[in-house]
Amino acid sequence: MTILAIESSCDDSSAAVIINGKICSNIVASQAIHTKWGGVVPELASRAHQQHIVPVVAEALERAKITKNDLNAIAFTRGPGLLGSLLVGTSFAKALAMGLNIPLIDVHHMQAHVLAHFIDEPKPNFPFLCLTVSGGHTQIVFVRSPLDMEVIGETQDDAVGEAFDKTAKLLDLPYPGGPLIDKYAKEGNPERFPFPMVEMPGLNYSFSGIKTSFLYFLQKETKKNANFVEENLADICASMQATLIKILLQKLKKAAKQYKIKEIAIAGGVSANSGLRAELQKLGEIENWNVYIPAFQYCTDNAGMIAMAAHFKAEKGEFCTQDVSPLPRMAW
Ligand code: KG4
Ligand code: ZN
Repeated sequence: MTILAIESSCDDSSAAVIINGKICSNIVASQAIHTKWGGVVPELASRAHQQHIVPVVAEALERAKITKNDLNAIAFTRGPGLLGSLLVGTSFAKALAMGLNIPLIDVHHMQAHVLAHFIDEPKPNFPFLCLTVSGGHTQIVFVRSPLDMEVIGETQDDAVGEAFDKTAKLLDLPYPGGPLIDKYAKEGNPERFPFPMVEMPGLNYSFSGIKTSFLYFLQKETKKNANFVEENLADICASMQATLIKILLQKLKKAAKQYKIKEIAIAGGVSANSGLRAELQKLGEIENWNVYIPAFQYCTDNAGMIAMAAHFKAEKGEFCTQDVSPLPRMAW
């Protein structure tokens, strides 16, 4: 079974080829255009997808050493994501599948982040918990099997990736700020500035309060010293990152106890964060968990994970019809 997968939910245009469950290529074209606007501009994102999609698909086929005539199915991200961006990938996938007269496979972007764990070894054993942390979502997912997952906790407002990006924006760092906070945090003192942690009931999260308190903190400190950010950048980043990680792991620990599960994974763009990766390893040793962390290339948006999810769907004969349309708020 040879599947071409397309990912275009946000600001990365990506294509991957999977042959019998093995990823043979995974090409990602990121969109630099958003940096100067301080965030993803949906209309610019969809236009950039239109420019990238043909060369990205061509390169994915070439790297996998196949031609389009070798394909048995076309997979695409149906949602959640930006409507205009999703439309580009969905329309391209539909047209190619129609032209080649092969089936289509629609994939849920967040489920694909979880299934990125099945690309490389070691693979988690079922059931496992996956903390899925990206620019748009923060979820604890209970995974019974590749196609049977349930969200058991999630953010009630901002996603943790958004908290990283908004913190960076307030510090005048370019978008996406998450990786820069990570970089500066490495040289800083995580205990220098204590930020408040909001208590949420159950397994849910909230990140909007910390964003507001960070804004007030910066306003207060820069009034006293106009060079406060410049002089303390590393400590500010380290302290904020440590707080966000503490919030994430506290609930993950609670979920693991509640569900009596020791197979623990993380996924999504924020799982590329070196602080989160290190703290999860540490906590895993204390709690006696088996911890699963994806390779960097499969943390942020990529079509490899879409291809992996499509492989599982194809195995079960789960294809979709040509009248499929994208779902910006696709349900689980
Ligand atoms: O999964 P992803 O690539 O796209 C979405 O589905 O949203 O996640 C993007 C998010 C952004 O908020 C970005 O700042 C964050 O992941 N991110 C990071 C790091 N790398 C990416 N956040 C913290 N530290 C990182 N190293
Ligand atoms: Zn994502």
